[in-house]
Amino acid sequence: MTTVASMIPHSRPSIGEEDLRATAEVLRSGQIAQGPRVERFEHDMAGFLDLRGGVAVSSGTAALELSLRALRIGAGDEVIMPSYVCQAPWLAAQRVGAEARLVDIDLQTFNIDPVAAGRAVTNKTRAIIVPHLFGLPADLTALEKLGVPLIEDCAQTLGVTESGRPVGTVGRLTVCSFYATKLLCAGEGGMVLSNDEELLDRVRSLREYDGAPTLDSSSFNLKLTDLQAALGLSQLERLQSFQERRCFLAATYREALSFKGVFLPTASPYTQHGYYRFTIRIPHLRTDPDGLPSLISRLEQQGIHCRKPVFRPLHLYLDQSGFPKSDEADRTALSIPFYPDLTDDEVRQIHQSLSKVLS
Ligand SMILES: Cc1ncc(COP(=O)(O)O)c(C=O)c1O
Repeated sequence: MTTVASMIPHSRPSIGEEDLRATAEVLRSGQIAQGPRVERFEHDMAGFLDLRGGVAVSSGTAALELSLRALRIGAGDEVIMPSYVCQAPWLAAQRVGAEARLVDIDLQTFNIDPVAAGRAVTNKTRAIIVPHLFGLPADLTALEKLGVPLIEDCAQTLGVTESGRPVGTVGRLTVCSFYATKLLCAGEGGMVLSNDEELLDRVRSLREYDGAPTLDSSSFNLKLTDLQAALGLSQLERLQSFQERRCFLAATYREALSFKGVFLPTASPYTQHGYYRFTIRIPHLRTDPDGLPSLISRLEQQGIHCRKPVFRPLHLYLDQSGFPKSDEADRTALSIPFYPDLTDDEVRQIHQSLSKVLS
């Protein structure tokens, strides 16, 4: 029996000495809540994406909600999003009173299918939330042609390009998450970034009620702290080296995991893959609802913690049908441990266990 201590976790933050120093410095400074480090984090993230500005908030989910509010989206409006994503985009639409119009994905990329998105556009459509899942950019070029404001959800993808353009620079607004095991770790946290100063001002004024001239029931306290921002800044400095390690690990996995009947992540000629997750697909599991859970528990017995990369597609929570690709991804996609700190030994163990279970 494998003990918890010897399990290879599915996700793990990469925390180094520089992160410890950066956060200790904040603690010693006495300025822990939102302050100059939050401002610098916003400035440096905007610089990284070459955008005019950013507004840091408490989570990626909050960033999505405030993006919709900044666009003045509310009751009577529709927001398009893929079904195959975590709950955050749907929650954001619900909070502002808009209707979430779910669409299916492209199974090769796991990202929103632009043709399905086009079919869902009505005269009430006010935005499309475009998650770039697992490190792979969605087809922004096709989505742009729909003529609807795009909110790029970069919670899982940064530092790669689509058709030569960096992800996060194409939409009206861009949203990031700095949850503990995301590309940049701040524990929790998020940011809205844009070239549109007016939209950013609206997000800024919604983020906190202190100093507001009027009582506004849509104001919140959704601030990030300087403690989190210091960690985020320290991680941002190492994003490039994290990325290089991710690409190296992905190449190693690609060589080691070429099992019959297993599909490895695909990029395309017009996109790079940033490998936030290494998500494989095992098509023969599509007819067996217990196939993936049982595979995950067999791998767990081998000491490898794998997960479904999306816990449950949104349409299944909502009892909607007509999303065959999301259904197939739900039954066949497996996310295996993948993060910059993964050691060569762990990669070997993962390979051995997957060989036993899959070949
Ligand atoms: C694609 C996507 N969007 C939004 C979020 C929400 O981010 P947060 O957890 O910071 O609220 C996540 C988090 O898992 C995500 O994966």
